[in-house]
Amino acid sequence: MPVSVAPTSVDPSRDGSAPGTEALRPHAENASAAELAALAAQDDRPRPPRWKLSPWAVATYLLGGTLPDGTEISPKYVGPRRIVEVAVSTLATDRALLLLGVPGTAKTWVSEHLAAAVSGDSTLLVQGTAGTPEEAIRYGWNYARLLAHGPSRDALVPSPVMRAMAEGLTARVEELTRIPADVQDTLITILSEKNLPIPELGQEVQAVRGFNLIATANDRDRGVNDLSSALRRRFNTVVLPLPETAEAEVEIVSRRVDQIGRSLDLPTAPDGIDEIRRVVTVFRELRDGLTDDGRTKVKSPSGTLSTAEAISVVTNGLALAAHFGDGVLRPADVAAGILGAVLRDPAADRVIWQEYLETVVRERDGWKDFYRACREVSV
Ligand SMILES: Nc1ncnc2c1ncn2[C@@H]1O[C@H](COP(=O)(O)OP(=O)(O)O)[C@@H](O)[C@H]1O
Ligand SMILES: [Mg+2]
Repeated sequence: MPVSVAPTSVDPSRDGSAPGTEALRPHAENASAAELAALAAQDDRPRPPRWKLSPWAVATYLLGGTLPDGTEISPKYVGPRRIVEVAVSTLATDRALLLLGVPGTAKTWVSEHLAAAVSGDSTLLVQGTAGTPEEAIRYGWNYARLLAHGPSRDALVPSPVMRAMAEGLTARVEELTRIPADVQDTLITILSEKNLPIPELGQEVQAVRGFNLIATANDRDRGVNDLSSALRRRFNTVVLPLPETAEAEVEIVSRRVDQIGRSLDLPTAPDGIDEIRRVVTVFRELRDGLTDDGRTKVKSPSGTLSTAEAISVVTNGLALAAHFGDGVLRPADVAAGILGAVLRDPAADRVIWQEYLETVVRERDGWKDFYRACREVSV
């Protein structure tokens, strides 16, 4: 017998993250409520069952654009349009979506915004860790009720995935490959049969139309708990690349830093762009093992030096500049952050960093201040 699960997803008016309230980090559907409403109002394309928007509007929400009435939709994801189109259209099929990539390539970010645009709810989330139990994916029990009244629907605690199935929404699983293989495999029935049996009650939850699942996994974790081929077949895999050009990466970093800075009430740094460009250049050169001009080989340190890390280095720099400097982002404000990101392995990475500093940074035109600032924090 199918069992109904009461809609228990977070009521946006009560989770403290509705627009205008003080949530430190509002959910995407609240942070972008105005854009989503404008898209919904002007979207006359067909919507799959229970989707808040058409696939076209979901892609526009992610990639940004201008609506017929002039409303500007800010880009959330900066990267190849095709990637977003494949991801969105996958969600309209019976296959789930797996976002794969090295750390910091916006997998979590894209997953959250996709769920917000498709279902209006990005909170049905399972965080994958080595300790994720089956209950986190299927259901658990409220033991007080279970002991008092025996197994019943009242005593059952649905997982986010179960709620998404019952309500036809998008579920999210973060870091899928960190979850032990036998727990991962509970997803196979859910994704292939689209139902979740509850043997204790002789019942099942059948997924209603509109249900789908987005999982993220790190390239670097490959081999930790590799996906079984049975599970992998239930997913369409989309690989999120590192930003192709330095300009694209600078754009991503400035956009995010600006948003984060506003949410933290940091003063905006009008001249910060030079420093952002510098952080991105350093990260890219160390990551690629080659200088921008293609002339000098450099060694890569062990850290990932992702776009996400560049974002936090610059944000920290802005906080330093705002609170201890003159409000303008300067080399000294980012030097310590860069060093912290580079020196993951204190011994080996320090040698690599010193060499980069002396052979590349020191010789570069206009980088004297930055060189000095790095020297100061490097000793
Ligand atoms: N291509 C991109 N477009 C937009 N934002 C990006 C991009 N790459 C990285 N970011 C930013 O990097 C940050 C971290 O991304 P995240 O989703 O946590 O990475 P991952 O889950 O892949 O490790 C996010 O704030 C996101 O805005
Ligand atoms: Mg992530």
